[in-house]
Amino acid sequence: MEAHYPFTLPPLPFGYDALLPELDERTMHFHHDKHFAAYVDNLNKLLESRPEYQSLSLEQLCQRWPEMPEEVRQGIRNNAGGVYNHDLYFQTLAPTPATTPSHELEGAIARDFGGLSALKSAMKTAALGQFGSGWAWLVSDCDGRLAVHKTANQDTPLPLRPLLCCDVWEHAYYLQYQNRRADYFESWWLLVDWPQVSQAYAKCLSCRPRCPQP
Ligand SMILES: [Fe+2]
Repeated sequence: MEAHYPFTLPPLPFGYDALLPELDERTMHFHHDKHFAAYVDNLNKLLESRPEYQSLSLEQLCQRWPEMPEEVRQGIRNNAGGVYNHDLYFQTLAPTPATTPSHELEGAIARDFGGLSALKSAMKTAALGQFGSGWAWLVSDCDGRLAVHKTANQDTPLPLRPLLCCDVWEHAYYLQYQNRRADYFESWWLLVDWPQVSQAYAKCLSCRPRCPQP
């Protein structure tokens, strides 16, 4: 999301029942229309009286909160992250059956993980190993090398380039899966929009000359 203040809630890119049976309508309604929307509203409220930050992009807000005054620091951290993370989460879900990664991304997955099933295992370990609320991520660095990370709460892996994320906050699955996070992960994996993830990876590779050199 390249947008600036005031942020708007992107519409769900498919019907609320489009991801059945993996994710049900009630889960999608609460997750998108209530939780995601709340992060957007809260971020706008925080920025309303802070014109000095209104020109920052969402990615800049996600990365520059440590330099902000204490009274807004944690709020910007949580809510800018909440908007960024949920935007990617919903963008990279697709009604089943999802297709496979592009040739380019598949090659990178083979090089850096050993294959798609090994990537799935790494993502599952991150998703199940995240204590409490947080996210599991597939990211790329400036050289196109892939890695899996996990973050707590609404923290992002920026400035690494996030390609795919699994929301492991209970609000993402509890209505349908209760405490069975592993079952939710298996369902989520079936919904990954590989064309979208591949497009993000291609964009990342094309931006390489602009990445800072060590
Ligand atoms: Fe969420």
